[in-house]
Amino acid sequence: MIGFFDSGFGGLTVLRRAVEALPHYDYVYLGDNARAPYGSRSQGVVYRFTLEAVEYLFRRGCPLVVIACNTSSAKALRRIQQEYLPGSFPDRRVLGVVRPLVEEVTERKTFRTVGLLATEGVVASKAYLREIEKLDPTIRVFQKACPLLVPIIEAGEQDWEGAEMIVRKYLGELTAEAGAIDALLLACTHYPILYETIRRNLPARVELLEQGPIVAARLADYLRRHPEMERRLSRGGTREFLTTDLTERFDRLARTFFGGPVRSRIVSLG
Ligand code: DGL
Repeated sequence: MIGFFDSGFGGLTVLRRAVEALPHYDYVYLGDNARAPYGSRSQGVVYRFTLEAVEYLFRRGCPLVVIACNTSSAKALRRIQQEYLPGSFPDRRVLGVVRPLVEEVTERKTFRTVGLLATEGVVASKAYLREIEKLDPTIRVFQKACPLLVPIIEAGEQDWEGAEMIVRKYLGELTAEAGAIDALLLACTHYPILYETIRRNLPARVELLEQGPIVAARLADYLRRHPEMERRLSRGGTREFLTTDLTERFDRLARTFFGGPVRSRIVSLG
């Protein structure tokens, strides 16, 4: 079983693509909706919440967990990989969503100036700036925190005309600072819900990158390179959805993110 975790619904946009690319595995998704959003929380709190979720998914029998949340990937993943796993679960793996997007951007070799939309927490962590700089210091990265987008999406208001006005405001502020950009990175797993709105407010020559397909392709590649892990994954084709808050609301909203019907169960963490 492969575990997927997000603070709420956003990770379902990544799970959706993983399931499309690798349908035969069993998947369990955990959304910590009771404590979402994580975007403006401190590093210590995000670490504690993320670790509780990872431990839960390990107890459920996942040898591999994908943290499909940029906030958790930026603020907690490295510590989990370097401090927690070696002592507690040396044979299990936790992967994130920051590194796959960074590798995609730097390996393309065609982007000189990129814009990035994310939560306040991810922008403040500077995780993308650091990681892109390490792989290709010639790429210029301009970040824009978009604190209004996750609440609009979680309220199911992505088609409201106000959502488009807010997208335009953020893109305007970003390009006022960056000038012309070659690519725009959606560095929040919620933002693919606004993909069309963002796309039609960008010049056609700007490439728009969302994480789902990139993470799914890199997960497939990871499993090819790690047959010892691949062999441990069960292959029943099942999908299980867990949330820490109301299941009825989860099922209603999750449909948009996952692109199909969802029936969740409630669990408690911590
Ligand atoms: N899905 C989260 C991310 O990718 C955003 C939601 C949150 O702030 O908890 O950063």
